[in-house]
Amino acid sequence: MKAIQTLGLTKVYPGGRKACEAIHLSVNQGEIFGLLGPNGAGKSTLIKMLVGLVNPSAGSARVLGFPFTELAARRQLGYLPELFRYPPWLKAQEVLAFHARLAGVEQSPDERTALLDRVGLHGRGSERVRSFSKGLQQRLGLAVALVGEPALVLLDEPTSALDPIGRYEVSLLLQELRAQGTTVFLNSHLLSDVEKVCDSVALIDGGRVLYQGSLKDALYGGARHHRVQVENLTETTWSTLHQSYPAATVQWDGKGGAEISVRIARTGLPGLIAQLVAAGVRVYEVAPDHSSLEEWFLSRLGKDPQ
Ligand SMILES: Nc1ncnc2c1ncn2[C@@H]1O[C@H](COP(=O)(O)OP(=O)(O)O)[C@@H](O)[C@H]1O
Ligand SMILES: [Mg+2]
Repeated sequence: MKAIQTLGLTKVYPGGRKACEAIHLSVNQGEIFGLLGPNGAGKSTLIKMLVGLVNPSAGSARVLGFPFTELAARRQLGYLPELFRYPPWLKAQEVLAFHARLAGVEQSPDERTALLDRVGLHGRGSERVRSFSKGLQQRLGLAVALVGEPALVLLDEPTSALDPIGRYEVSLLLQELRAQGTTVFLNSHLLSDVEKVCDSVALIDGGRVLYQGSLKDALYGGARHHRVQVENLTETTWSTLHQSYPAATVQWDGKGGAEISVRIARTGLPGLIAQLVAAGVRVYEVAPDHSSLEEWFLSRLGKDPQ
């Protein structure tokens, strides 16, 4: 059974804008799934259809084995909306209690405290929403999404208001959720977060899915830039190497070291390294370009990463 299976989900908003066009996606249970795409791609619309806030114009979906419109499916969902506002006069713990009541979940004060601890709001249960920054409110929103320990949580841009530490903490939280078997579906345009935690990704643009698959395939399937740190690279070795990799470039540091920059598929790396080693070159590091996911994202969207 899949956690989510969409069958041609389509949304045409009144006025004629097609936000999602025949979306077929499947999300495995227990994985962290990242839906990537630029602003206006249709990510929020897709989540809203899955949780029942937007009526699809066509298509259907199954959520945890149930038709997505059934209460049995909704009962197992947690949701962090992209734009959320909690009543500013409520205390953080009251927000949780309120949502627990709405969801029909029994929740003890201890459980509320544990939930707040979990999202990095330790000791702040008695503070009012009014006094929370956007980032703290987003953490509270995450806690709300986790009320009742749902089997599937859908998070729409969960880290958009967070600073780098907050993002890191949320990525740890997502991994914790995965470790306990929860399925996480997240929307993001912040590629670095996704790169760290997602098992699979889909890329959507203009309401259409351009790619769906494992993150590994997305990143390592095609050629990408690698930096190779070496020592003992002679001019002769370099010119031989350059014949095999005409687009490669090199920079000598003048102290016996050099950095080769080469665009190559992951599968081609062992061959390159073997050639270097056979020529007496000492290889210290082979590092893929850090902007790889960004590069992949842009190239898939038909934009030149350079
Ligand atoms: N309620 C709405 N009415 C009309 N158009 C909408 C509505 N919500 C979103 N849209 C449009 O649908 C497209 C997809 O929006 P959205 O799903 O919010 O994208 P994303 O979350 O990827 O930024 C956009 O062009 C947006 O302007
Ligand atoms: Mg959105």
